[in-house]
Amino acid sequence: MRILTGIQPSGALHLGNYFGAMRPAIELQDQGEAFYFIADYHSMTSLPDAKARRQYTWDVALDFLACGLDPAKAVFWRQSDVPQVTEVAWLLSTVTPMGLLERAHSYKDKKEKLASGDLDKVNHGLFAYPVLMAADILCFDANVVPVGRDQKQHLEMTRDMAQKFNQAYGQTFVLPEPRIQETVAVVPGTDGQKMSKSYGNTLEIFGEEKALRKKVMSIVMDSRTPAEPKPDADKNVVIQLLKLIAPAAVATETEEKLRAGGFGYGDLKKTFFEHYWNYFATARTKRAELAANPDYVEQVLQAGAKKAGSVALTVTKRAKQACGLSV
Ligand code: TRP
Repeated sequence: MRILTGIQPSGALHLGNYFGAMRPAIELQDQGEAFYFIADYHSMTSLPDAKARRQYTWDVALDFLACGLDPAKAVFWRQSDVPQVTEVAWLLSTVTPMGLLERAHSYKDKKEKLASGDLDKVNHGLFAYPVLMAADILCFDANVVPVGRDQKQHLEMTRDMAQKFNQAYGQTFVLPEPRIQETVAVVPGTDGQKMSKSYGNTLEIFGEEKALRKKVMSIVMDSRTPAEPKPDADKNVVIQLLKLIAPAAVATETEEKLRAGGFGYGDLKKTFFEHYWNYFATARTKRAELAANPDYVEQVLQAGAKKAGSVALTVTKRAKQACGLSV
């Protein structure tokens, strides 16, 4: 079984990315042949800044390795180091109806968010995003693709494109199955909405201690005094976050204290921060070591690109042969 997923380089890793995408992917590396890449080509559809892209891409590499991606088990590379995906994207684009792309949520959402004067920010890359994503998956004969709920439609489109190509040119691409992380897909942000960079409600995993503590301490709560019992303690955002990162007994005990009264929000946030900071202590040390050893990280990515590249070459050849192109 080949498991494949891509992570966009979009800035500092936060708790939502960690539980929604990174940790599930790392857990899966023991269950099959893991193929994981940093989607730097995709980032071009919304980030027109070369320096930031290079930095964010490097950050994802450090984050993933620090959080437990094992290069002895998983193939790990930068998307743009295996350029065959762009060639396969072209092949797929010729069997992709415009209407299919026009119905994509990701494209419609971005377009709707922009003011009418800003519509030229909707570039062709954004429109064709699902085609490149399909190529990412189909180029490696992936069987299983772990993704968050928001990517479900992209997976359906991928299957559509594979089927259309296979119908036109004969059996070429493997149909992938999505694996949606239902249980941990939604991590609440500091304002109670889904944690997301675009809402500005994130908690960074590898942030600087002082700034992070300040962020936690300024999470807005209601105006009840510490003495008051809080019968709705289970709905408290900090309690919900604590449940993700503290031992179950600690989370339960803290929730009970809050419910009973005599335990204020300041103490609650302090408890949360201590556990948060400890939870990522090992990863933090590992990340610092990796950051001090860029040659090693680069070597991991290069070795990954070599392995991934040889698979992509085989599949690309098969696809070109099928559709009557010279190979
Ligand atoms: N679109 C995905 C996201 O935003 C990233 C991605 C790009 C991806 N190519 C992929 C995920 C291929 C899975 C498979 O999260």
